[in-house]
Amino acid sequence: MDRNEAKEKIAALRQEVSEHARRYYDEDAPSISDFEYDRLLHSLMDLENAFPEFRTPDSPTQRVGGHVSAKFAPVRHEAPLESLTDVFSREELFAFGERTQAALSEHIVYDVEPKIDGLSIAVEYRDGVFFRGATRGDGQTGEDVTENLRTIRTLPARLSGAPERIIVRGEVYMARDTFLQLNREREERGEALLANPRNAAAGSLRQLDPRVAAERKLDLIVYNIQYATRSYETHAETLDALGDMGFEVVPYKLYDSIRDCVEQIDWIGAHRDSFRYEMDGAVIKVNDLVQRALMGSTAKAPRWAVAYKYPPERKQGRVLDIAVQVGRTGVLTPKAVLSPIRLAGTTVSAATLHNQDFIDRLDVRIGDTVWVQKAGEIIPEVVEVDRALRPEGTVPYTLPALCPECGSPVVRDADGAAMRCTGAECPAQRLRNITHFASKDAMDIDGLGAAVVESLVNAGLVKTPADLYYLDAQSVAALDRMGKKSAENLIAAIEASKQQGLARLLSAFGIRQVGAAAGKALARRFPDLDALMNANFLELSEVPDIGPVTVQYILDWFDSPQSRHQVQLLREAGVSFASREQVVDTRFAGKTFVLTGTLLRYTRSQAKALIEGFGGKASGSVSKKTDYVVAGEAAGSKLDKARSLGIPVLSEDEFAAMLE
Ligand code: IVH
Repeated sequence: MDRNEAKEKIAALRQEVSEHARRYYDEDAPSISDFEYDRLLHSLMDLENAFPEFRTPDSPTQRVGGHVSAKFAPVRHEAPLESLTDVFSREELFAFGERTQAALSEHIVYDVEPKIDGLSIAVEYRDGVFFRGATRGDGQTGEDVTENLRTIRTLPARLSGAPERIIVRGEVYMARDTFLQLNREREERGEALLANPRNAAAGSLRQLDPRVAAERKLDLIVYNIQYATRSYETHAETLDALGDMGFEVVPYKLYDSIRDCVEQIDWIGAHRDSFRYEMDGAVIKVNDLVQRALMGSTAKAPRWAVAYKYPPERKQGRVLDIAVQVGRTGVLTPKAVLSPIRLAGTTVSAATLHNQDFIDRLDVRIGDTVWVQKAGEIIPEVVEVDRALRPEGTVPYTLPALCPECGSPVVRDADGAAMRCTGAECPAQRLRNITHFASKDAMDIDGLGAAVVESLVNAGLVKTPADLYYLDAQSVAALDRMGKKSAENLIAAIEASKQQGLARLLSAFGIRQVGAAAGKALARRFPDLDALMNANFLELSEVPDIGPVTVQYILDWFDSPQSRHQVQLLREAGVSFASREQVVDTRFAGKTFVLTGTLLRYTRSQAKALIEGFGGKASGSVSKKTDYVVAGEAAGSKLDKARSLGIPVLSEDEFAAMLE
């Protein structure tokens, strides 16, 4: 990949990753799996490492998520909302036991609780009355979500027998039943489904409108006193006190040694499905509050507690079929259609297979019995094939060669595992293609953003980018939130875009790796779209900054019947195909050049194209009519002939200087 390609690719990936990060962290509505997100982020990191000059401080690779949003007022936490150190095995758990023993060298009582997978918050009560509540945020400062918290039934409005001032930490969660019910309702209304209870809870709590939050029916369970104007001796005592005050409190059990905790940890793990809430582990804490204070905290987490993370729940299911979905960017995603299984609180009847490489690595076949897990993923994933249970007669699976949505050929990305539909008119890519066509770097059609495109598409007025040029103001005016005036403005903007010229048009087509810069480079070389469409591989390769991979993408794009149909519709609509980027520089007009020997900077055909680009002629043999001979390394008889005829001989450097 050359620098320009890398630059464009980095910009595109950055936008994609940022968008997904925003959806995940700010909207709690991820649209891709963690696996896919990590893959995108890693390709961006790899590219930035290979081309560090394009790394910028605002790149999503340079920050970690979980910032305080500007939507809600910030609240500085009285006591920080620390996180927990995770342990993943018995050994790590016992090491924690040894650490605490070494630090305290006295008898230690431990407490074991489920670790609820929700949203951490702190709630403050003054004189027993709910005063304020905030999200965890970065642990030091959270968001004021008091009004939304008021809608939670299990958050007491008043406490009985509470100290004058108390701040309690707990977890806001959506009960599994509530989550399932909510998704059933959303499905009926044709709305997007919520990914999992945690995301649903987070999304609900951060709704700006408390009425919406109220509909979501959240719950609160508490597990820590952050601050109180009364002192307690043990954790168990605080939990009991919180229960007496009216809170729903995390269930706990006390043990005299870490070894004794294991049984309870295993019990909780085995009964995960029977709790009302999702959990992702057990928390083991030192019970004595003086001992806790003695141990203190590291920068991030207390030394007196750990979270024991359960391995993700996995279950077996049978692959009844492999279905293929075409995403908005044309990427084909295979999905295993499964015999329904209960997994981590939901019924799963499909699991992602990501891409062809993933299928090949696991050798997943229709008819196979597979292990499925969620592992903090929103989308269940096939993780292993049980070969012992493979029936006779199965065959390896290959993604279709033609797009299931539009029948266009599917091609593999040159730089990755994704298989992509090449159809310029593919219905699955409609919204994105049309939005891209109208965007700033492309045809730059004022007033035609994603929302307007969506309503045009939904009303059936446009199906492909070229259809934009066949819209009439009257039908546009009939759309929701569109008046006569704005419809006329839109039509005028579309009309004006006809004159944008070749560079923008090329960028608007959405050919892979052909963005604004490549569009311009091509438009400098070709006078119009027809000239470009007639160019072969070699001629396209001669364009500066256009690499062979991009050339192939260009050729493939124009080869497709759907693309040609688009070109035809654009032509009939009167869209200008002419380049606005042609440099009229005829410095070599009337001059004949002969190239001989090996040039280091240019291939023969590039040098020839450059000469012709400046209006000169490149000839194969030296004669009296020759104006210059450009002599590279190991030049032979042509150089001798030039000398004998007294024709000026240029070194490669001198030739390059003439091209400046
Ligand atoms: S105690 C300073 N107990 O887990 C100790 N945390 O990974 C604070 N969580 O952000 C945590 N259930 O949101 C504690 N029974 C429990 C918990 C629990 C869930 C969450 C909490 C925290 C995260 C740490």
